[in-house]
Amino acid sequence: MPAHRPTAVHVESPRSDPLLAVRGLRVSYGGVDAVKGIDLEVGQGEAVGLLGANGAGKTSTLRAISRLAATSGTIDFCGRPLVKASADSVARQGLVHVPEGRRLFSSLSAEENLRTGAVARGRRPEVFTLDEVYDLFPALVALQDRPAWALSGGEQQMVAIGRGLLAAPRLLLLDEPSLGLAPVVVTAVYRAVASIVDRVSVILVEQNAALALEVCDRAYVLAAGRITLAGRPEELGDREALMASYVAPPATDPARPAERPGR
Ligand SMILES: Nc1ncnc2c1ncn2[C@@H]1O[C@H](COP(=O)(O)OP(=O)(O)OP(=O)(O)O)[C@@H](O)[C@H]1O
Ligand SMILES: [Mg+2]
Repeated sequence: MPAHRPTAVHVESPRSDPLLAVRGLRVSYGGVDAVKGIDLEVGQGEAVGLLGANGAGKTSTLRAISRLAATSGTIDFCGRPLVKASADSVARQGLVHVPEGRRLFSSLSAEENLRTGAVARGRRPEVFTLDEVYDLFPALVALQDRPAWALSGGEQQMVAIGRGLLAAPRLLLLDEPSLGLAPVVVTAVYRAVASIVDRVSVILVEQNAALALEVCDRAYVLAAGRITLAGRPEELGDREALMASYVAPPATDPARPAERPGR
């Protein structure tokens, strides 16, 4: 079997100097290689999608960038190397991660959770004010005193994004904001995401490619820890090519048992 060559990949450089430049990024968990040496860039003001199927390595890539997972490779943020930085220090530099699963403080109210975002802002100027977060998510106005445990999944997602915005992101990492939400709630969340990308650089992880491509300037597709496709939405619009790129490149001789990621 010939080695897989990702012929569809033509990596484009963002127009301006990159805000984030990742080279040769690898993430392993014990014996599992989740990310197998990827390069990606985010330009100032860009919204970049990171697409792919379950287990492709999207969350691992975000966790590596925000220093929540051990890695090899280089990560430069605003021209400074990040690999030895702690998760707290990268957040204080404005690299703000809204994780998969929201991770709110369950006994704090919606507004108290929102306000915890300001801790990472430190003395950097605000990017979004609390009022602007409520403008983005009007549904939260009436829920500000409700404990997070009593919020719906969609409301929790809104609080998680709002908390990230109050941390004054220079780069916001959003991990599957549509996951598990009803279509009407997805619409509300993505209406806000479309406004956010006008003001902040973003990496948006999504399994729902169509949704992500509506708001992103460029996107990468990950399959089994490798980038299999990259480009602007109009270049990725061919559904068949996009779906084909979600399929993991063959890692072994088909005569032998296939490599299975350890999920
Ligand atoms: N803490 C961990 N320990 C061991 N293996 C892990 C761990 N976290 C992730 N993995 C494995 O790494 C691979 C990539 O997982 P990752 O969560 O990055 O994928 P993903 O693209 O975000 O998937 P999903 O769309 O399901 O969220 C998977 O095979 C997964 O089982
Ligand atoms: Mg994930």
